[in-house]
Amino acid sequence: MSQNDFFSDEPQPIGAGDASPAAQAANLRATLHQLAHSYYVLDAPTVPDAEYDRLFQQLQALEDADPSLRTPDSPTQRVLGQVLDGFAPVRHAVPMLSIRTETDTEATGAEAFDARVRRELALPEDAPAVAYAAELKFDGLAINLRYEHGVLVQAATRGDGETGEDVTQNIRTVGQIPLKLQGQGDALPAVLEVRGEVYMRRDDFERLNEQQRERGDKTFVNPRNAAAGAVRQLDPAIAAQRPLSFFAYGLGEVQGWDIPPTHSGLLDTLAALGLPVCAERTVAQGASGPQGLVAFHQAMGAKRDQLPFDIDGVVYKVNNRALQEQLGFVTREPRWAVAHKYPAQEQLTQVDGIDIQVGRTGKLTPVARLKPVFVGGVTVTNATLHNLFELRRKGVRVGDTAIVRRAGDVIPEVVGVMRPDPLAARSPYVPNFRMPRHCPICGSTVVREREEVNHRCTGGLFCAAQRKQALLHFAQRRAVEVEGLGDKLVDQLVDGGLVRTLPDLYKLGLMKLAALDRMADKSAQNILAALEKSKQTTLPRFLFGLGIRHVGEATAKDLAKHFGGIDRIMDAPEDQLLAVRDVGPVVAKSIRTFFDQAHNREVVEQLRAAGITWAEHEPSAAADAAALPLSGKTLVLTGTLPTLSRDEAKDLIEAQGGKVAGSVSKKTSYVVAGAEAGSKLEKAQSLGLPIVDEAGLLALLASFAEAPPSTEV
Ligand code: IVH
Repeated sequence: MSQNDFFSDEPQPIGAGDASPAAQAANLRATLHQLAHSYYVLDAPTVPDAEYDRLFQQLQALEDADPSLRTPDSPTQRVLGQVLDGFAPVRHAVPMLSIRTETDTEATGAEAFDARVRRELALPEDAPAVAYAAELKFDGLAINLRYEHGVLVQAATRGDGETGEDVTQNIRTVGQIPLKLQGQGDALPAVLEVRGEVYMRRDDFERLNEQQRERGDKTFVNPRNAAAGAVRQLDPAIAAQRPLSFFAYGLGEVQGWDIPPTHSGLLDTLAALGLPVCAERTVAQGASGPQGLVAFHQAMGAKRDQLPFDIDGVVYKVNNRALQEQLGFVTREPRWAVAHKYPAQEQLTQVDGIDIQVGRTGKLTPVARLKPVFVGGVTVTNATLHNLFELRRKGVRVGDTAIVRRAGDVIPEVVGVMRPDPLAARSPYVPNFRMPRHCPICGSTVVREREEVNHRCTGGLFCAAQRKQALLHFAQRRAVEVEGLGDKLVDQLVDGGLVRTLPDLYKLGLMKLAALDRMADKSAQNILAALEKSKQTTLPRFLFGLGIRHVGEATAKDLAKHFGGIDRIMDAPEDQLLAVRDVGPVVAKSIRTFFDQAHNREVVEQLRAAGITWAEHEPSAAADAAALPLSGKTLVLTGTLPTLSRDEAKDLIEAQGGKVAGSVSKKTSYVVAGAEAGSKLEKAQSLGLPIVDEAGLLALLASFAEAPPSTEV
């Protein structure tokens, strides 16, 4: 199959042209089988779901038009999947079905479903409205949990719908899934099979991929993939480390239990039994039946980005169980349920080029320039490739067909390239991407620090890209906020040489501003007013706005609270910075490095001189320091202590605000000497420094432990 077949706008069968419908169907069947194998058996999909769905629907349409094309092995005739070697097969007592997907637009989707239900129930025109339960379509994988007398005895995947895989061991490691149901023995059903979705939250997914990246292990394409991989992980110890979640949405086999008469009631009951049930659900009843479903579809669509997990649509179900039974099933789908999907969050498109973007801290980010594609509700033309290593790992080259993902408000990224045939040569030959050795913006040398994945431009504020980003960072709403100072204006100011540093902003006059492209007098006045307004700020906003590496909003707040004033922060040695909540060595070093540069202090001075003000207060650090009496003191450890290890002693000292140094000098406050202390002890003696043994150290710590508690200023 050729890659371009995936781009046709018209639903056009693979390799089609003017092939006969029978040939088209055969082609589609072969392609779908291959894609399904990658997806279900290898857990490594080669195309986005939307692409699979599109091809599936093409085949369905061909078969609907001519039922003689419907072969028994057609993917439309069975629920997909295959049992993996390595897991015991589990025959489902009640088959695990899928749901028909309604691809129509909002209103017609719900209405068509309602009309079909009413027709199949043979309801007269004037019959009362049918009640529907509406819930989310979770993007994970279906699982069947079998409880006997309230105890989880087995968990199985869907497999081909008839036979799944026994993944009990792995599922037992999912904290959200109760191993025992709540309730008294007698009241619990003899058999209760609960069906639902195992999924991975987006934040858990990001964290997992971060870890995988650090370890140099393969990252996962999306949360669903990561969840599927975890559930079908042959080593339960690894599965246990993968953060999975679960939502219940239905039943399998049931014995010795009165099933609640409505679906909504069933979900309430499952929740009462201790199973996680998603709160985002509703019942659309009365005259507003289908309209209620439309409203739900819209409301969830608007909320989709803010949900902590991926959904690919909503599901409508006839609420009344008796009606569900009356409606029954067609081949692979119940007539009483339908899925109404949202625009896909992954799509295929072509990589037209790879550009480099230079960020505020000089980081060089490779960005794929794409043939425009509608994904996750917007048209995307650029997607991040993160860094050179990610780019290489994914094997992205210009001309490739890439899978682009945009989920939530996360910036679009290339998650991989589609390579149905890994042996297919690229033609013409495309060289592998390389990072430039010089910044594409300012020409400065590009470096990569040891153990760092990122390349950086060393130009600092000499680099126009970094200057622009620094200005935008300073002017953003969460920092000092200069309303109206956006991309376009900053480009003009920097490119025109009007602004080089932050303080230059406050030297702008009406004449210069109004002379800029597309800048009317009124807008120029507005900018000046916004600059004037920005002068009244707060210390945390100002600090954050300076753009010190690793100092985000939260750290800026902590620093401001702790020190109370900018001068104390600028002068604080690393050990004092370390005393601030959540400030570790990397952050402390970064702050110190920033203020050790004369030009950065100069920026602060000039901004103050330009009239930027904020309230300061007494340091709360003063009180903390009093409570931590070793703060400001430097101790040196030498020799072997009788009970404490080197690390333990160090921890104790640091917990009291002290610092442990490696060598003795006049500035050393105490030398802690143990057995076989050598030259350090001699040096301490010659300098006349206080020397203590382990007992002495413990006494020092103990006497200080009774110091008065700190008082907040
Ligand atoms: S009900 C008889 N409800 O969608 C109907 N399925 O094609 C059985 N799914 O992989 C399914 N959220 O795992 C149902 N709220 C929900 C769902 C849901 C996600 C998945 C299900 C299956 C697919 C059905």
